[in-house]
Amino acid sequence: MTDDILKSGLISAGWAWYVAIFTMASLVFCLWILRANRTQKGEGGKDVKLHGTNQWDGLREWDNPLPKWWSNLFYITVFFSIGYLLLYPGLIVTPGALNWSTDSLHRAEVQDAKKQFDPIFDAYMKQDVKTVAADKGALQIGGRLYQTYCVQCHGTDMRGSKGFPNLVDNDWLYGGTPEAIKTSILDGRNGMMPAFGEQLKPDQVTDVAQYALSLSGRSSAPDAAKRGEETFKTTCAACHGPDGKGNPALGAPNLTDNVWLYGGSVAAVAESIGKGRQGKMPAHKDLLGEPRVHLLAAYVFAQSQSQAGSK
Ligand code: HEC
Ligand code: HEC
Repeated sequence: MTDDILKSGLISAGWAWYVAIFTMASLVFCLWILRANRTQKGEGGKDVKLHGTNQWDGLREWDNPLPKWWSNLFYITVFFSIGYLLLYPGLIVTPGALNWSTDSLHRAEVQDAKKQFDPIFDAYMKQDVKTVAADKGALQIGGRLYQTYCVQCHGTDMRGSKGFPNLVDNDWLYGGTPEAIKTSILDGRNGMMPAFGEQLKPDQVTDVAQYALSLSGRSSAPDAAKRGEETFKTTCAACHGPDGKGNPALGAPNLTDNVWLYGGSVAAVAESIGKGRQGKMPAHKDLLGEPRVHLLAAYVFAQSQSQAGSK
């Protein structure tokens, strides 16, 4: 409790004591002021006149005590504060008799939620992703998780954008099996396309770009593509495969399918080659925990199956 506040670094022990002493001193001061300013009625219960004339525009000022109920209200607020500070951690340096804290409140709420949801997640964890993908309730939870944690990169329609892969086009960098999808989400992925701008001359880059485009029938310069073929075999085939069909183990895209993560124009492809590309899919294991990732994988798998073909 109190330790939590001090550990949080929001306030140092020195300031905590300053606040505590200042608060207690203020309360004592309030009591003293209330007592010290208790004016008495004059002799015989007569009102006491202040020194001097104290008369303005026909109004006279008297030094009368506060009505009893009024000063009692002040006493009540002071005693209320003292009671409050004894029960709650208002002084910071003591946790208060009730041991109450927003932290413990939060922990209790989390505990409650876990009790409620863990059995649901546990039940799904016992089934494989493919089975879960056929469960309506699971897909609803997965869909909500997707809308919370994935839309900003893969889009509300799951079709991605430049640099962020489309998840429902049945074209996968790392494979579209339930296991591969789960691994992508759980551990994240780092696409590593090296930059060849230094190693290759600019026209070598355009030539090999034309060759890469020719693999999906997009090249408009057959001569350049022919010149680029040799470079491709020696420099690119290691990752993209001798026929350019890609390698899911590396996340090297298939270059023959006319699906482009970074654009399929000559300029975009030449930029991919010259400057390299490093797409990063963050790992979600720590953020969400495996049970939620399990449901997300099922959701992505189900969507990719049902939307495949409707590119
Ligand atoms: C910060 C942006 C970002 C967020 C958030 C994000 N992703 Fe990704 N994701 C990427 C990028 C970028 C890639 C491609 C990595 C690469 O180029 O190698 C990717 C790849 C993937 C892949 C592999 C695709 C393939 O073709 O093999 C899957 C599956 C995936 N993401 C699912 C998800 C899910 C589900 C979520 C939500 C939990 C999510 N992503 C959240 C950026 C993101
Ligand atoms: C070390 C392995 C590796 C080598 C070598 C390599 N690439 Fe890549 N390439 C990749 C990976 C991985 C990606 C995906 C990057 C990402 O996901 O951000 C990629 C992406 C690309 C893209 C973008 C594809 C798209 O869909 O937008 C093109 C084009 C490309 N590579 C062409 C080439 C060419 C041409 C060469 C040879 C000059 C080459 N690559 C060499 C691994 C490699």
